[in-house]
Amino acid sequence: MDSIVVTGGGELRGEIPIAGAKNACLTLMPATLLSEEPLTLTNAPRLSDIKTMTQLLESLGAEAASMQDGQVLTMSSHDLDNHVAEYDIVRKMRASNLVLGPMLARLGHAVVSLPGGCAIGARPMDLHIYGLEKLGAEIDLRDGYLHAKAPRGLKGAEIELSFASVGATENILMASTLAKGTTVIRNAAREPEIVDLATCLRKMGAQIEGDGTSEIVVQGVDRLHGATHPVVTDRIELGTYMLAPAIAGGEVECLGGRISLVENFCEKLDAAGIQVEETKRGLKVARKNGRVSAVDVTTEPFPGFPTDLQAQMMAMLCTAEGTSTLHETIFENRFMHAPELTRMGANIEVHGGTATVHGVEKLKGAPVMATDLRASVSLILAGMAAEGETIVSRVYHLDRGYEKVVRKLSSIGAKIERIKE
Ligand code: EPZ
Repeated sequence: MDSIVVTGGGELRGEIPIAGAKNACLTLMPATLLSEEPLTLTNAPRLSDIKTMTQLLESLGAEAASMQDGQVLTMSSHDLDNHVAEYDIVRKMRASNLVLGPMLARLGHAVVSLPGGCAIGARPMDLHIYGLEKLGAEIDLRDGYLHAKAPRGLKGAEIELSFASVGATENILMASTLAKGTTVIRNAAREPEIVDLATCLRKMGAQIEGDGTSEIVVQGVDRLHGATHPVVTDRIELGTYMLAPAIAGGEVECLGGRISLVENFCEKLDAAGIQVEETKRGLKVARKNGRVSAVDVTTEPFPGFPTDLQAQMMAMLCTAEGTSTLHETIFENRFMHAPELTRMGANIEVHGGTATVHGVEKLKGAPVMATDLRASVSLILAGMAAEGETIVSRVYHLDRGYEKVVRKLSSIGAKIERIKE
């Protein structure tokens, strides 16, 4: 397993191109199952999760081709010959469960392994099942697999989600596009990735209104056609790299970034003493003056503070002036980066879903271990401002969500290299 070695010191200067959003691409790709015609995605990120989703779609009988070093993906599911999403693939990546809704709508049946737990939480699928059953599906759990069928097709329904689940909203939205009649999804997730999915589905002929709000209305149609769609900019990669100059000093421009993608996050950065300027090309970020100030953060569904930026924000707050609190309300176990940051000299107390961070002057480099995707990048961010060398092991987590991270950070002056083991 490879490691990444970061040597702290030196301000960061330059520009970083922000890629297409992993979490948009992972729901756009299964949308190809809804149509017999090809779907082409441009601005696709080059990530191992995208390769895993490609393997899953191909295992169902879809054809996939990628061009321009993986930035253009063309998928065609004209001849689906398998409706089982195997445990071996699904356990590696929870987003595999997003083939359930489209397969059910297109084929009338689907067998999808439950993903099992992951490092950050139990991550059940009860809301996905609830919504699809409201659309008329019969779903049984047997041997760890969801066996879903809709022999008479799906029928539009009024669905109220008890929690604004991103994945459940995406599965229900995709399935409802081919259901007979009208579907209303209440307390729907509002993330930009939902809007990106709805935009792509409309290009394929779906009739959807209200995406980006808590109430989405879908008029089912008989079939969807092919389309070409650019994947929206990755707001989590954007927020991650905006924190690089905030933590290490200097000034960095994140190309493709827009404030609208990270509004709540920018408000917190402003309160911490970080300046964000929207330019024609992206977002320019620098500290307003010396040390950053402590702030309190509570993660919430969009448009609240994104849970996927919580670990990275904690890395910055470790050396802020004062005491910060971070409340993680989305996942039950998303502070695994805290003990690793503590090895670097951070002063963090975790009680349940709350982490209290007492700012220290400086962190010290140390060998640390990545535990999940966003925790791994928070350790790299911390290492860029720490004294000495930080060795982050198990960086395969990183490859799931950050393309070319060593090249991108080196280009703005970070002393970082990947050690192949
Ligand atoms: C998506 O996961 C993202 N993944 C996650 O990003 C992100 O953290 C999460 O949304 C929240 O924004 C992708 O889009 C591929 P949820 P998802 O359904 O859809 C509970 C990353 O780092 N829940 O909104 O799984 C669930 O257990 C990843 O890129 C149920 O209880 O998120 C969790 O506590 C990590 N029952 C909470 O809701 C359900 O049926 C949020 O889950 C579904 C979810």
